[in-house]
Amino acid sequence: MRPSQHHGGVHAFYHLVQHPIADCACAGLACFAARANRPERWQTAIGQKPIVYCLGKCYDGPSDGKHDVRPHIGSHARRTVLLDNVLAGGVRDLAVYRERGGGVAFASAQTLTPNEVVRMVHDAGLRGRGGAGFPAGIKWQAVVNEPASIKYLVVNADEGDPGAFSDRLLLEDDPFRVIEGAAIAAYAVGASRGYIYLRKEYPVAAQVVSQALEQARAAGWLQPAFELELVVGQGAYICGEETALLNALEGRRPEVRQRPPQITHHGLFGAPTLVHNVETLCSLPWIVTHGAAAHADLGFSRSRGTKLLSLNSLFRRPGLYEVEFGISLADIVGQLGQGLRRGNLKGLMVGGPLAGIVPPELLATRLGYEEMQAIDCAVGHGGVIAFADDTPIMSIIAEVFRFGARESCGECTPCHFGTPVLAALVDAAAAGASIDAARFQRLIDALAATSLCGHGRGLAEFALSVQRHYRAELQTWFG
Ligand SMILES: Cc1cc2nc3c(=O)[nH]c(=O)nc-3n(C[C@H](O)[C@H](O)[C@H](O)COP(=O)(O)O)c2cc1C
Ligand code: SF4
Repeated sequence: MRPSQHHGGVHAFYHLVQHPIADCACAGLACFAARANRPERWQTAIGQKPIVYCLGKCYDGPSDGKHDVRPHIGSHARRTVLLDNVLAGGVRDLAVYRERGGGVAFASAQTLTPNEVVRMVHDAGLRGRGGAGFPAGIKWQAVVNEPASIKYLVVNADEGDPGAFSDRLLLEDDPFRVIEGAAIAAYAVGASRGYIYLRKEYPVAAQVVSQALEQARAAGWLQPAFELELVVGQGAYICGEETALLNALEGRRPEVRQRPPQITHHGLFGAPTLVHNVETLCSLPWIVTHGAAAHADLGFSRSRGTKLLSLNSLFRRPGLYEVEFGISLADIVGQLGQGLRRGNLKGLMVGGPLAGIVPPELLATRLGYEEMQAIDCAVGHGGVIAFADDTPIMSIIAEVFRFGARESCGECTPCHFGTPVLAALVDAAAAGASIDAARFQRLIDALAATSLCGHGRGLAEFALSVQRHYRAELQTWFG
């Protein structure tokens, strides 16, 4: 069976099997935050079936599938690791990519032993940019240590977090960097085959990446060492979770798998598998070219290198920014975003809905994995959604749980049965009803303690974070 060829009944899991993206309006959180920019489009978005969460145009929200403008793009790091080709307007031709220095890193990686490349990534301090921030070198070593004859590399291009569009722009404007990064990682861990799993909500990226892969194949760029194929999803947020993604690639229902076994040991089709986010892989050509020390020199604390941030359309200057870890959240709001278009800042949702909301009094916090965790928030994938003070906190909670309930994969009880109840409770509260606080707390505690994956746990962490940071406002409901 080919990857993604579906076993019977699997289609029912997905939201967008027969739904052209051009007809969709976006009901993602970034568009919700900016709903006053285009109230009619927002009404269309929340009235349509199926609901679509995030078209990756959060800089122009509320957005839809028909309209597309190019966002502001800027690099504010001492050295630009990721965005040089994007800043140049995009490179979609292999010859141009090579003229601009592309391909040199893959060639020089091949002059090193695979172990030397693994060590380089380890010493660079690269951590996965998909959300968890797990050290790449440790994950690579785990795959290297497996004695299997077949290993896989999977590019996670599902970018499901509402509010993030950085992977979309990398895929659309610098597809060969994604491919080169994948080839470097595959060489280091001994993977001979790879898949790019791309969400259906990004039709332009699908076209660009597919053409880039054709160009790479025609030029014999990666072969015979490495075969890379594009697989486009059918609309399900949970496919971004790596074990659900592997089930999707295998043509199964994309439900989350129990761990152990870890996928570095037993992943795609039972073989050792390395899964990385697009942005993580895009850092590799620069690391190989400039060396581990140059990368480790960027950033701060235990978060090294640069990070892409996606700022939503409530900022005066929304767009895509490359920053060094260590920038303060206040500078992200004031210097990059240049403040809000409307109202005062109520809070900043960094890294998607599965983390928390940073209240204005904590904006001195610096961007770093541990530093964000210390305030019950996260770096996540770098989506930055500003909420203005015209949005009650309970309506934000209601949006998050509506999203969470719809995207639950159904594999474990606290999330499958708990999130719809939580969504109903907070929906009613947002409409003015009082909330059964004890019941709410019991469901959140169960979600936090017993969820199988980061979706359920993240929703619980979000609830705990807003309860901590917006206690006064929530008193009306929680007493
Ligand atoms: C509910 C959920 C959704 C996720 N969605 C994405 C996603 O859209 N893109 C992504 O790269 N990682 C996503 N992740 C993280 C992946 O499971 C995995 O950790 C990541 O792809 C590993 O790549 P990295 O090491 O480069 O970060 C998600 C995790 C969870 C729990
Ligand atoms: S927490 Fe939710 S999304 Fe994760 S496995 Fe359980 S049901 Fe699926």
